[in-house]
Amino acid sequence: MSQVRHLIEPEDFTLEELMQLVDTGLSIFENPSQYRKVCDGKIMASLFFEPSTRTKLSFDSAMMRLGGQVLGFSDANTSSTAKGESLADTIKVVNDYSDLIVMRHPKEGAPKLATHFATIPVINGGDGGHQHPTQTLTDLITIKRFKGRLDNMKIGFCGDLKFGRTVHSLIRTLARFGNKEFYLISPDELTLPVSLKRQLEKQGVKLIEVRYLEDVVEELDMLYMTRIQKERFFNEEDYVRLKNTYILNRDKIRTAKEDLIILHPLPRVNEIAIEVDTDPRAAYFEQSKMGVYVRMALICKLLEVGPYARG
Ligand code: CP
Repeated sequence: MSQVRHLIEPEDFTLEELMQLVDTGLSIFENPSQYRKVCDGKIMASLFFEPSTRTKLSFDSAMMRLGGQVLGFSDANTSSTAKGESLADTIKVVNDYSDLIVMRHPKEGAPKLATHFATIPVINGGDGGHQHPTQTLTDLITIKRFKGRLDNMKIGFCGDLKFGRTVHSLIRTLARFGNKEFYLISPDELTLPVSLKRQLEKQGVKLIEVRYLEDVVEELDMLYMTRIQKERFFNEEDYVRLKNTYILNRDKIRTAKEDLIILHPLPRVNEIAIEVDTDPRAAYFEQSKMGVYVRMALICKLLEVGPYARG
């Protein structure tokens, strides 16, 4: 294999590479049987130091659908981390047991640190409140499938924009794709981090910060709902005060565009009422489904197999 590539943040890939992953994921979605054996003999280590349903299981499913195998843990307490083993030692060992590592960790920067001890590709499956690049891939493939484009959209991000790592990765990426106007819908306590706002504004992006979704919903081509991230709060009292700030229901999207798409990285708690699930604009379960196919494309790219095979 040539120089090892990792995916720690979306900026690790060029826009062309991101578009190619989306298009490859869509091709795999159309013809999955063609890719059934491309990872024959390969092993993916799935190291989840923090809970997950979609990211872990969609990666596992992706590797299995490519003919590869999966080992790992979904509870660090069942690994020797519980005995005090360092992340560095864990990675050095798992490096010899597998061809690719996917990891989620509560500490920001842990997957980046892992790359210093690995000679195989490392994928960040979410690090604290920092980044979630494969959720961004999942979001991009869904947007491309439903909107046919990745640019020229008015986009609303609603909920916990402070701790929401999916928002941090996606907004930067959509700005790179040339989207120039974002509506940031959050309570004052959960606004997008200032450093990220400054970075986006330097890129010429217009950020419109509002408190109420109803004030802007009719403008939007895409609405990205997020959960209030209980696990990142410093005290229970603040969480309880903010947890019901946004509850999207049918009435709140009454004036929205007919071709709006509603995304949510999931899991949801109560921020989207169940009644919205049957609205044709609700795309969040399709979104989690598409995560498998774009992750299949990503595995192929990092292992240089199937559509990414060299020579
Ligand atoms: N979207 C997402 O990361 O979901 P999980 O926490 O279930 O992996």
